[in-house]
Amino acid sequence: MSNSPRTWIEISRSAQRHNLRTIQRVVGPSVKIMPVVKANAYGHGVAEIVSSLRGQSQWGIGVAYGDEALQARAIGYRGRVVVLSNWQTKELPELIKNRIELVVWDQSSLRAVVRSGKKFQIRPQVHIKIDTGTTRIGFLPNQVNLIKSALKNSALNIAGTFSHFANAEERVSKRTQEQLKRFTTLANEVGADGGGERHIACTAAILRYPEARFGLVRLGIGLYGIWPSQESRDWCRANLGTVKLQPVLSWYARLAQVKTVSPGTGIGYGSTVIAKQAMRIGVLPVGYADGYDRRLSNRGFVIIRKQRAPIVGRICMNLCMIDVTKIPGAQANDVVTLIGEKNDAATMAELCGTIPYEVTTRINWSLPRILV
Ligand SMILES: Cc1ncc(COP(=O)(O)O)c(C=O)c1O
Repeated sequence: MSNSPRTWIEISRSAQRHNLRTIQRVVGPSVKIMPVVKANAYGHGVAEIVSSLRGQSQWGIGVAYGDEALQARAIGYRGRVVVLSNWQTKELPELIKNRIELVVWDQSSLRAVVRSGKKFQIRPQVHIKIDTGTTRIGFLPNQVNLIKSALKNSALNIAGTFSHFANAEERVSKRTQEQLKRFTTLANEVGADGGGERHIACTAAILRYPEARFGLVRLGIGLYGIWPSQESRDWCRANLGTVKLQPVLSWYARLAQVKTVSPGTGIGYGSTVIAKQAMRIGVLPVGYADGYDRRLSNRGFVIIRKQRAPIVGRICMNLCMIDVTKIPGAQANDVVTLIGEKNDAATMAELCGTIPYEVTTRINWSLPRILV
């Protein structure tokens, strides 16, 4: 038996540094970068990523919600923190007192921030969100007068005007060009430059649409060394050959048991696999409750002793089984790689019919993360 955890995540500081440095090289020194650390830093562990970012040049960080912003302060992040998606009115006093920069997306969110700021005699820093075609949160571009009045509101410090692309990860994207045009036209019309930074570019747009970078970009998935999509990766390979990202996250577990089962034995719930001949089966103490996607059942694989071992049978809540028949040395306590080496988040995402963002974000947030 080992004293190490049954399963754990390793976060590579050097890979994270490499990715930030690489993107800074692509955008040049005049463009600032906002690492996006929402959703527990895309599942990597917000405390570990914030700690890793220490000492590296960054504009500030972006989060989705108010509670995430307060968590960033609680773990000691003193730089700029922007709530990009949504906050609750009851959170405003704490957010404002903690100098959190706040998205404002309609008249009522605007009023709530103004009211709360006045109460504490603080001019809150806000970023005006424009919905240029993603249909998430934001003012519609035809609400010009409302946007103008928000920008001129003397009770606020306007830190930025921003939007978000819907299609930047795709191969051909007329819609991205249209969103960018809508954003630029509107920002010019309302005089947004008097009010802080314009920002719209996520990883895919940072790489592909230099004209969308303005002075500030929001770097999410690329920070973690993962390509936003295969299309994005292919495009970069053809056009920016020197851009190499390094995956930051690896996921490991220790084999709990190895045994040989005889022909006819059923493996896992529903006996979706029946051994045709004697099989050596390894049991891993990881299941879908850990965020190991059940869609990997009879599809995914892990790496053990530098070789691939397929997942056999259905992934259970807390356990799953792998076929180690062809890896005779495999034994209990061996370290198994669930994500890492030649098994990356993109490969897993493809097997599951999803995107790599979901693969890392759903790794149970309570599993131990170790910064290496
Ligand atoms: C508002 C906003 N900005 C930036 C990002 C970062 O996007 P990406 O991870 O593709 O770089 C996200 C992520 O979805 C987002 O919601």
